[in-house]
Amino acid sequence: MSIDETIRARIPAELSGMVRSATLRGNVATLVVDAGGLGRSAAAQLQRELEEAVGALDHVSEVRVALMADRKERQIIAVGSGKGGVGKSTLTANLAVALAGMGHKVGVVDADIYGPSQATLLADTPSKLRAEGEKLIPHDSDFGVKFVSMGQLVEAGKAIAWRGPMVGQALSQLMDADWGDTDVLLVDLPPGTGDVQLTMLQKFKPSAAVVVSTPQDLALIDAKRALDLFRQAQVPIAGIVENMAGYMCPSCGDISDPFGKGGAEAAAKELGLPFLGRVPLAMEIRQKSDAGTPPAAAADSDMGKPFIGIAAQLHRALEQVG
Ligand SMILES: Nc1ncnc2c1ncn2[C@@H]1O[C@H](COP(=O)(O)OP(=O)(O)OP(=O)(O)O)[C@@H](O)[C@H]1O
Ligand SMILES: [Mg+2]
Repeated sequence: MSIDETIRARIPAELSGMVRSATLRGNVATLVVDAGGLGRSAAAQLQRELEEAVGALDHVSEVRVALMADRKERQIIAVGSGKGGVGKSTLTANLAVALAGMGHKVGVVDADIYGPSQATLLADTPSKLRAEGEKLIPHDSDFGVKFVSMGQLVEAGKAIAWRGPMVGQALSQLMDADWGDTDVLLVDLPPGTGDVQLTMLQKFKPSAAVVVSTPQDLALIDAKRALDLFRQAQVPIAGIVENMAGYMCPSCGDISDPFGKGGAEAAAKELGLPFLGRVPLAMEIRQKSDAGTPPAAAADSDMGKPFIGIAAQLHRALEQVG
């Protein structure tokens, strides 16, 4: 029997599949274990069980267990735009809620230091993040979505003093929070192509990016800048979303298009990118968002449907890149 086999023989069968390799050097056994997708306490328990089982072998005086969190299992999706105020945060919150409804374990990182929005959108009482050891503990929102926010790291009114490297460090802390079994991490980016975006692309390369635009030409020019940045970093573009198209007047029911309509879809076609869907400009979306009740949380809500449709497309796109 090889050493690997001898050690494996001690390991309960149901755990053996998770052990990638087992070696013995002197009296020290080293196990490399696939702990991807396990929460913190499940991983700790696994470690204890392995230490006990292997430690009982003759000649083994020490067991070292290396738990490998398989990063591939957690997909990072960046939600970006070139321009501010086009609805990135609203889309992120609603996609998160809709993906959770489809069975994903979803986390949201609000990476917008100057205008954190997710605490409002996901109805959480803003408060400081707790840490356990080196890791921040994300908040659980009412919608089965975990989240962390730049706003929880910085005191109100002090954000302006933050410089590039600090912003990068803050983002890293949020990305490295204790996400447990979260399988999709949506990152609500600030507008433009600044420090947060660069840190994101350099250190936490997303599996896919969603770019939001309003339909008018000026917004689309900015959206193309965001697309270029993702492309240069070789981040696959899951698609473009058109937000704020088609306004229905709440009193007369007439539909008008203050920002035009179809521009983002045409741009997606021209660029050979998927068009993920269109969200109308609607008072109800703004009101529900401000009230911390994302429309996507109610599957029968007319305003939830566009978000749920986009989430379904994203879900399929994730299966392809994953
Ligand atoms: N489809 C919509 N219909 C009506 N209001 C909307 C819609 N989408 C977003 N809004 C409203 O527009 C405002 C800006 O949206 P949001 O904060 O999501 O944009 P953003 O791109 O994240 O902005 P920023 O660049 O400042 O981070 C919010 O008040 C939001 O409620
Ligand atoms: Mg925002």
